[in-house]
Amino acid sequence: QEDPRLEKIAAAIRVIPDFPKPGILFQDITTLLLDTKAFRDTIDMFVERYRDQNVNVVAGVEARGFIFGPPIALAIGAKFVPMRKPNKLPGEVISEEYSLEYGTDKMEMHVGAVQPGERALIIDDLIATGGTLGAAIKLLERVGVHVVECACVIELPELKGREKLGGKPLFVLVKGG
Ligand code: PRP
Repeated sequence: QEDPRLEKIAAAIRVIPDFPKPGILFQDITTLLLDTKAFRDTIDMFVERYRDQNVNVVAGVEARGFIFGPPIALAIGAKFVPMRKPNKLPGEVISEEYSLEYGTDKMEMHVGAVQPGERALIIDDLIATGGTLGAAIKLLERVGVHVVECACVIELPELKGREKLGGKPLFVLVKGG
């Protein structure tokens, strides 16, 4: 039995063809943010899932993990840690490289933001190939954090991103194509 809130969440996500490149169907969550009921329901569904799991770190992936992560973190009493693109964070960082379709990218986190033994939820708007979330998992695990789960609003199942998560569970609200 599907949660009745999911239909309106899915309907509030706008799909834009050929952005940023021809052939890509872009899943645009900015329209979800305009729908106050659907946005609140999105946050609530994550909060309901994680509030009793002793999560004390919500790690949000730049850029759209910075939109969904903080309200979840506040509601479950966890700290929020930004996982950023290279050369954005001012303090000492640890970084993890990961591969893109062409070339590589890097994700960075502040040293000292998390402690060994802490329990993290990783949040982003969307999983496509899984490279981004895979790097976030590695970064947190390298410093001894237990990743409880990854969570996204949208999954593109055809790209099989789940397989890049090293067996970590992934929770998604909506599937796109
Ligand atoms: C998108 C999306 C995820 C990532 C998923 O970010 O918001 O972070 O791609 O892709 P993957 O599963 O194939 O790794 P984008 O690269 O557009 O960066 P931005 O959010 O900073 O614009």
